[in-house]
Amino acid sequence: MKVCVVGTGYVGLTTGVSLAFLGHDVTCVEIDQNKVEMLRAGRCPIYEPGMEDLLSEASANLRFTTSFAEGVPGADVVFVAVQTPSSADGSPDLRYLRSAAETVAQHLDHPFTVVVNKSTVPIGSGNWVDAILRDSFAQREDRPEGCEFAVASNPEFLREGNAIHDTLYPDRIVIGSDNPRSLEVLNQLYRPIINQTFTAPGFLPRPDDIGAVPLVSTDLASAELIKYAANAFLALKISYVNEIGQLAGKVGADITEVARGIGLDQRIGSRFLQPGIGWGGSCFGKDTKALIATAGEYNYEMPIVRAARDVNSRQRQIAVERLQDELRILKGRRIGLLGIAFKPNTDDLRDSPAIDIAKLLVARGARVKLHDPIAGERFKREQPELAPHLSETIDGLFDDCDAVVLVTEWAQYLEMDWSKFVGLMRTPILLDGRHALDADRMTRLGYRYLAISG
Ligand code: UGA
Repeated sequence: MKVCVVGTGYVGLTTGVSLAFLGHDVTCVEIDQNKVEMLRAGRCPIYEPGMEDLLSEASANLRFTTSFAEGVPGADVVFVAVQTPSSADGSPDLRYLRSAAETVAQHLDHPFTVVVNKSTVPIGSGNWVDAILRDSFAQREDRPEGCEFAVASNPEFLREGNAIHDTLYPDRIVIGSDNPRSLEVLNQLYRPIINQTFTAPGFLPRPDDIGAVPLVSTDLASAELIKYAANAFLALKISYVNEIGQLAGKVGADITEVARGIGLDQRIGSRFLQPGIGWGGSCFGKDTKALIATAGEYNYEMPIVRAARDVNSRQRQIAVERLQDELRILKGRRIGLLGIAFKPNTDDLRDSPAIDIAKLLVARGARVKLHDPIAGERFKREQPELAPHLSETIDGLFDDCDAVVLVTEWAQYLEMDWSKFVGLMRTPILLDGRHALDADRMTRLGYRYLAISG
């Protein structure tokens, strides 16, 4: 099928490259000329494992352009995957979505095009985009005869760092539209994934246990709510284990054992029960906030979602308090933070716990250093006021430190030779913010090992 993807952020790029890999004819429209040039040269503007490999495997079916006129005409499906940053009141800023929809409508010419909202948008945005498309289309003097279109929602469940895996081997595909014809088109588009008929990329073999992928085909509002409800549930699952983790510390229980013990109950499930400093990134914070904002428009409170957010920000405070309890005085102390990205295998710094913790420590007079195996350059660009605190090497981070915190559990940190660094520290305090290190081993090496919870 002929596909156009507007926006080459995480979601747009993964969607476009994956669909081209599956054999569809894909044009990605991106307004940033630099990004287009990078992508044309086969380089990926974001750090995402496997993306450059897939780009090269899919290149015969894939084009990048700044021009809507090269992508939208003739397309069976147009994905709109532009950014929707949070505005001051917590609701997403839809200005880019509006502008993309207006421009798409100026170029529609096909007998039937499905315009898919791929960005995470508030419930009701499908109808809003539909109205914008129709207004903009009606204003065209060159309006083609017999051109029809409909809006659908097709939420994305990919995790950064696992984007290609989650797209090619998803747990489910959700499509929502109030127009049955759009559901048919999307069903056809995703057939190779639903039936798993494509040849798996060499670098990402098909998991043994994957069968046919369930397709949830529903109305527009339900698809939109599924996205928010899924993210909020995952966020509250993590906050729940972190809340129990603090209690575990007080009663002398081991939270990793508790998490294992409850996660083996299949009704609870073991995934997303990893205790630690908590969640960050571009999705959970923003989506839980947006859900609360949407509910607010209906005068409806969401105390469970609100509590998940509160517990999550408390975890960041607790990290600082654990250090204060141990060091007594934070002023003048050198504290090293290992990991800046909000999680491993990404260079994304949005809502990263490390940045918040660094700011809290600086505000209390500590001297902070940060290290990240991948996100350092991006950190310097995006956080200029913290940039001088970046340590280029791990040795440099440990050197003369009063305490080191493992904030992001990069494999490089988990696998490094920790015996090399303990002697560099002024006091060998190690706060494991992710319950990712072996406490006994660290203690044997001479660290004073502390976990974020019990
Ligand atoms: C999340 C969802 O997992 C995706 O399904 C969804 O598509 C995406 O948001 C989105 O809406 O675009 P992502 O934010 O990329 O994906 O990252 P996750 O792997 O979900 O991790 C989120 C945060 O939770 C990270 O900070 C991670 O460190 C933390 N986490 C995760 C835990 O603290 N404990 C866990 O057990 C799992």
